[in-house]
Amino acid sequence: MNHARGIVSRRLFVSGMFAALGAAPVAAAGASASGVAAVASGGGLLRARPATVFLGGRARSTWAYDGVVPGPTIRVTAGGTVRARLVNDLPAPTTVHWHGIRIAADMDGAPGFSQRATRPGESFDYVFTVPDAGTYFYHSHVGMQSDRGLYGALIVTDPHEPLGYDQEFTVVLDDWLDGVKGTPDDARRRMNTTPHDESLTSPALGGTSGHVRYPYYLVNGHTADEPTTFVSRPGTRARFRVINASADTAFRVALGGHRMTVTHTDGFPCDPVTVDTFVIGMGERYDFVATLDAGAFPLMAMAEGKGGRAFAVVRTTPGARRPSPKGKVPELQRRMLKYQDLQAQRADQLGPPSRTVTVTLGLRMRRGGNEWMMNGRLANDPMRLRVDRGETIRIILHNDTHMWHPMHLHGHTFQVRASDRGGPRKDTVNVMPRKRVNIDVHADNPGEWMFHCHNLYHQEQGMMGVLGYGKAPRRTHGMGH
Ligand code: C2O
Ligand code: CU
Repeated sequence: MNHARGIVSRRLFVSGMFAALGAAPVAAAGASASGVAAVASGGGLLRARPATVFLGGRARSTWAYDGVVPGPTIRVTAGGTVRARLVNDLPAPTTVHWHGIRIAADMDGAPGFSQRATRPGESFDYVFTVPDAGTYFYHSHVGMQSDRGLYGALIVTDPHEPLGYDQEFTVVLDDWLDGVKGTPDDARRRMNTTPHDESLTSPALGGTSGHVRYPYYLVNGHTADEPTTFVSRPGTRARFRVINASADTAFRVALGGHRMTVTHTDGFPCDPVTVDTFVIGMGERYDFVATLDAGAFPLMAMAEGKGGRAFAVVRTTPGARRPSPKGKVPELQRRMLKYQDLQAQRADQLGPPSRTVTVTLGLRMRRGGNEWMMNGRLANDPMRLRVDRGETIRIILHNDTHMWHPMHLHGHTFQVRASDRGGPRKDTVNVMPRKRVNIDVHADNPGEWMFHCHNLYHQEQGMMGVLGYGKAPRRTHGMGH
């Protein structure tokens, strides 16, 4: 398997565009050498429906695509076309948003911007080309739905993949309460009436890490006690595609006994950086490669500032003792990735901006609940940034709150100006409390685009603006459905 780096993995993927991640208690994610989980689910149908998943030894009701969590992994070649028919078997309207894809606006799944949500019993055909290779994901963009099981990986492969590796794994992280502590909508309502939990703080995030302690943190739909196992062989150069699909949780990720070489940020290649650990915010993705040792190793994702953990096993030796989810992973405390370490590859660097605008992230505490704002405005009467087609603008994201915000822009990627050298190409950037981050956006994809915090609670409590080109926007996203 080591002879044809980067080719073996691609060949394994031709079994169909949709492949389910491990639904069995022990299964490799995505296509692996063992081929365990490459289950074709047929036809490009994506059925959003009520479902039952087994977590913590009990059946939990949730909503999921095709009844599995995560939903089917969609694989497509860069430049190719995704055709997915969303069938809505939920008792509520829904959409699919293709997070990070530079997509045509009417396929973006942004309700109230470019399309209305698909009603119960209806279907919608998503047909779009994917310009860039990389690690992406899809999720519902209606209300709190993505905090249920309505998310899945979208992997865009490069027909001329320059990165040499033998095998790849997709690692989808999630925070889970649905069907355990009520629904995500219940959690949002509770948040309006209960005081903030002051103990949820993290030095790595510079302050308050989130709102909710979740009962479970998942890797590919599995709890730490019934973990996913990624099966490989000693000496394999493995690529891990890590996706944080959580609503309210950043994860600190490490692979016990290994260093990680980070190669991609939100899909885009970067100059490789070798670290021991990284923090991944909601909506972010990192790819890393590691040459696997002999044994069985913990892939640990600590819920940053919350105490819980998501956990999987990387196994290269069949007989090796399984690591414990409670075990110590010293790499978590060693060298941590910073944005300043990251540098997009030459071809993806943006030229200098023609102007600068500031977006201030604010908070107003109200009796009925918090209001998270962008330039003093809420989602129901949003901040609007007007840009001209073809221009590059610098946006200074100024966080004037005590919490960090993973800010995500639809339809584009931007360059984070993390250092004088340049910075990484991303579509979601963490802005720490009281700090500023500069991002440069090249306006090359006309439309009215959501620009929002990927903390789902903040998004639903107002932190949603618009970046648009020229024409007047239509009705915008409402709050709290
Ligand atoms: Cu993951 Cu508005 O998106
Ligand atoms: Cu936020």
